[in-house]
Amino acid sequence: MARVFFEGITKRFGDVYAVRDLTLEVQDEEFFVLLGPSGCGKTTALRIVAGLEEPSEGDIHIGDRVVTEVPAKDRDLAMVFQNYALYPHMSVYDNIAFGLRMRKHSKDEIDRLVRDAVATLGIAELLKRKPGQLSGGQRQRVALGRAIVRRPQVFLMDEPLSNLDSKMRVQMRSELIRLHRELGATFIYVTHDQVEAMTMGARLAVLNEGRLQQVGTPQDVYDRPENLFVAAFIGSPAMNLLDAEPAQVDGKACVRAGGVDVALPDALAKQLEASGASSLVMGVRPEHLDLSVKEPAVTFEGKVDLVESLGSEQHITVAINGNSLIARIAASEKIEHGASFQLAVAPQHVQLFNASTKERIGP
Ligand SMILES: Nc1ncnc2c1ncn2[C@@H]1O[C@H](COP(=O)(O)OP(=O)(O)OP(=O)(O)O)[C@@H](O)[C@H]1O
Ligand SMILES: [Mg+2]
Repeated sequence: MARVFFEGITKRFGDVYAVRDLTLEVQDEEFFVLLGPSGCGKTTALRIVAGLEEPSEGDIHIGDRVVTEVPAKDRDLAMVFQNYALYPHMSVYDNIAFGLRMRKHSKDEIDRLVRDAVATLGIAELLKRKPGQLSGGQRQRVALGRAIVRRPQVFLMDEPLSNLDSKMRVQMRSELIRLHRELGATFIYVTHDQVEAMTMGARLAVLNEGRLQQVGTPQDVYDRPENLFVAAFIGSPAMNLLDAEPAQVDGKACVRAGGVDVALPDALAKQLEASGASSLVMGVRPEHLDLSVKEPAVTFEGKVDLVESLGSEQHITVAINGNSLIARIAASEKIEHGASFQLAVAPQHVQLFNASTKERIGP
């Protein structure tokens, strides 16, 4: 059993709060991702689990043990760092075997573990090479091999793919998912790359400025961001966010945004009224804006400001009343810069946030 539980973890460096009052449970054998912008406290949180950093407050539990006072080497975990620091003068075999030799495993056992690991990672033919003779992706696998041979209950990975080119990253991403399935260990994976987080994590936690913003499945966090930070951080292109205010049409609560009254589904209208919020931010994902949508729809009008073609689709920026909206539109549509343009959204795709508390309003 190796669930990892962060219980009220705070870490201060002088007067910098790297992590603030983090309470979070990672389940046994889960692939869990910590996601957030640079400096939000991801590495610090991971180093606290590893025992490389002591929390200022709170406790770390691994399995049924409180390990806050347990030294790193006795925590039954392995960490893979961003700069995977292999020993340059040692062969691949020796790099992978090094930790096992330090732990006084027998020669036969070391050999078996190293050969199992390189078979899993598909680098069996590289055992005699030195790190300088390997590609970035191969070096990455050697670093993973070093972690795997330890057979830990928990793997901690800090942006392990960030040094690889984009094609290799995609490949290593699926290999890590497979590795996780095969090893049946708990993975805590740190990244600032939302695509990695969305594709790899069974669940993810979004951090900002040391604070936990939201925990959930990738789909849940994407569909229902709990606050404006998460709404703006997850998604590419980012969610459109427009200043808005509550209004009434025919006695029914709606919002006025970008010069347009936006009717709301009943449940959302009720929650808006109950919230008592006086200033709002309205959010719409770029894929929910289209040239037309099935009625009933709300339509924004403006001029095309920018057309970015991605081959499979195009991102159209439309200027409306001092705001701009980005829409993802089928590549087949002919759209010209400067043309007048209409973008429609169905009411069920409108999201609302309280502009003063930054919290989500609505189901
Ligand atoms: N040893 C330290 N001394 C002082 N401040 C530190 C120390 N380590 C981290 N910090 C600060 O704590 C905050 C969190 O740092 P951390 O390295 O955990 O961020 P991160 O989310 O991993 O960022 P990145 O994505 O850039 O790696 C930052 O403001 C950082 O400057
Ligand atoms: Mg970091």
